[in-house]
Amino acid sequence: MSKPAMRVAVTGAAGQIGYALLFRIASGEMLGKDQPVILQLLEIPDEKAQKALKGVIMELEDCAFPLLQEVTAHSDPMTAFKDADVALLVGARPRGPGMERKDLLAVNAQIFTAQGKALNAVASRNVKVLVVGNPANTNAYIAMKSAPDLPARNFTAMLRLDHNRALSQMAAKAGSAVGDIEKLIVWGNHSPTMYPDYRYASIAGKPATSVLSDDDWNRNTFIPTVGKRGAAIIDARGLSSAASAANAAIDHVHDWVLGSNGKWVTMGVPSDGSYGIPEGIIYGMPVITKNGEYAIVKDLDIDAFSRERMDATLNELLEERDGVKHLL
Ligand code: NAI
Repeated sequence: MSKPAMRVAVTGAAGQIGYALLFRIASGEMLGKDQPVILQLLEIPDEKAQKALKGVIMELEDCAFPLLQEVTAHSDPMTAFKDADVALLVGARPRGPGMERKDLLAVNAQIFTAQGKALNAVASRNVKVLVVGNPANTNAYIAMKSAPDLPARNFTAMLRLDHNRALSQMAAKAGSAVGDIEKLIVWGNHSPTMYPDYRYASIAGKPATSVLSDDDWNRNTFIPTVGKRGAAIIDARGLSSAASAANAAIDHVHDWVLGSNGKWVTMGVPSDGSYGIPEGIIYGMPVITKNGEYAIVKDLDIDAFSRERMDATLNELLEERDGVKHLL
């Protein structure tokens, strides 16, 4: 007998990332090849967006995915999130011409307050929420604060794209395979201030610090390349990174639900006070996932250079939090 279906809600479903994401969820890449899914897709009520969403659904139907039990289109989060087991919050307002950072934070605060409230009201009591839409960490914080009846730890933000980008830069530099790298961390905010940290990593069993023994490369090439990779892709492609973002979302939820087999992965999670990060701030942390839960890897030594980097990305998050405080 097949397992009961899991309900996966996806917002911004007719967008670029949505288009690279939904087909992979429906094919079983996110939740397992034996896990039936129901997709509950949310878009803004705008006629054009809803029409585009219908088109995506037509294509999903035409794939005849054996695991896809049902797909529904929504313009209201209260119906889209009903009984959702997983919610991927991808849709967000991008920065428009002349828009300041505080305006961007304010419009997104509105969206994520409403969506947090809707999750609080109608989603499964153990819904796993991944926020992809930017500013992802702060949007996840807003949704979490707007959903007081749900476990705070179930609200996460996506740092996995940064993690994957860092893995690939390290593998290229070391001339090894990404699969040979373990225990990489990306600390902080999903923004150019993030801190990819390989002090604890190994490459094919050897310490990454000795394989990549080039501090200048770390500081002046690796960290800035990972931080600015999103902008480099926009510059090259004329569009933002959508396929790699969708891939990272699949990786994040896959590992959260099905486990990371003892490996460290990076997730933006509400801090429990570890590493001097104030409780509740959604911050990229090393975690190990098992049985649908994650545990922050604790008690790693933080050297002076790392402290400085970790505080810089934290300060940005504190500023963002203060920028939306009055809206929560
Ligand atoms: P897009 O503009 O192609 O699609 C976004 C979709 O969201 C649009 O169809 C829009 O109508 C919809 N939307 C907007 N507000 C909504 C709301 N309140 N409810 C439901 N749907 C809504 O953008 P794309 O490329 O798909 O990116 C989506 C977001 O992901 C952006 O905020 C982008 O900055 C972010 N992103 C995050 C990454 C990360 O690593 N955390 C990486 C890449 C992108």
